[in-house]
Amino acid sequence: MKRLALFVSGDGSNFRAIHQAVLDGVIDGVVGLVVTDKIECPAAAYAREHAIELYPYPVAGQTPASLVKALNDGAIDFLILAGYLKMVPVEVVRAYPRKILNIHPALLPDFGGPGFYGRRVHEAVLASGAEMSGATVHFVDAQYDHGPTVAQVTVPVEPEDTPATLAARVLEQEHRLYSQVVAALCRGAIDWEDGTPHLEPPLTLPNLYKTRDPL
Ligand code: GRF
Repeated sequence: MKRLALFVSGDGSNFRAIHQAVLDGVIDGVVGLVVTDKIECPAAAYAREHAIELYPYPVAGQTPASLVKALNDGAIDFLILAGYLKMVPVEVVRAYPRKILNIHPALLPDFGGPGFYGRRVHEAVLASGAEMSGATVHFVDAQYDHGPTVAQVTVPVEPEDTPATLAARVLEQEHRLYSQVVAALCRGAIDWEDGTPHLEPPLTLPNLYKTRDPL
């Protein structure tokens, strides 16, 4: 059984979806640690309600080395970023190669990178006139929204969409996609044979595709 550290800053709906998948036995793992920069956020409250250990980061007095130590002490196998708004320190990225996932609420490499978070992502998608949006799960490297893509799911952009309606449509799909990808990660079903991640077997959810070459 793999041990997961969830990194959160906000509502934690992806965290809750993943935790539910753990409780349902869909993910063969356990949430061993929740790392947050916002100790009062709803996601942190959910962790407290479920007696999951919280590790505040970054806060005064904590260094990247102390975060690596907390992850090691918790015997964490995989780091799952779920709405975490801070950059993961490069020391952590180096300590956990191919073991850190993030979800982004758009079809990377478009609408990603510094400044593309929350409502801003969906505003930019609508302003672009794109007919499709979606979500991307990717491995994390030392740059925002940059590591190799594992899977994407698409949703249509409707003519009457606001950033809020589009965000809600994407978020619903994020929960399905992220739980499935984390489940695959925990059962060792992501292979890197050619140096890029592939789900073996591929996910069978509707709307799933991987159209782009990994970055
Ligand atoms: C999601 O849209 C996710 O893609 C992005 O931040 C949002 C987090 O939402 N990285 P939640 O906290 O999981 O509800």
